[in-house]
Amino acid sequence: MDAKIVMMRSFPDKRGTLSVGELGKEMPFPVKRIYYIYGVPSKDIRRGYHSHKALRQLCLCTSGSCTMMLDDGKERCDFVLDSPDKALYIGPGIWREMYDFSEDAVLMVLASEEYSEDDYIRDYDEFIESKRD
Ligand code: TYD
Repeated sequence: MDAKIVMMRSFPDKRGTLSVGELGKEMPFPVKRIYYIYGVPSKDIRRGYHSHKALRQLCLCTSGSCTMMLDDGKERCDFVLDSPDKALYIGPGIWREMYDFSEDAVLMVLASEEYSEDDYIRDYDEFIESKRD
């Protein structure tokens, strides 16, 4: 699966911690867009339910926690994002669902491209079909 945990470089000291992701090091692509999800009202909420044709993303919880379920058509993996220095890289062609958001969760997503609905596959059967090509 084209996905992996990436640890941000962190500088903890008695004033707190500063974490950094730099292009070519922790950041695997130039960022064209950021968005974040927060205020998820209940643990029962599940979001996502899509894959991307070309988009690459780096996801992390700057506060709180959530779980991301990734599916590449062959296997499914759960990744718990529960620390601001722990990011999840997701390559193209991976179905994702996010769930188990804590009340204080802020899920930040750094994206390789601008928003384009054409890049989404929002139907699971269509996603599985796209993996056969
Ligand atoms: P949606 O795809 O439903 O979120 P999730 O993947 O968490 O289920 O997106 C919610 C709304 O936000 C939807 O109307 C599309 C809009 N949106 C943008 O306008 N720009 C963006 O960059 C993103 C990610 C979403």
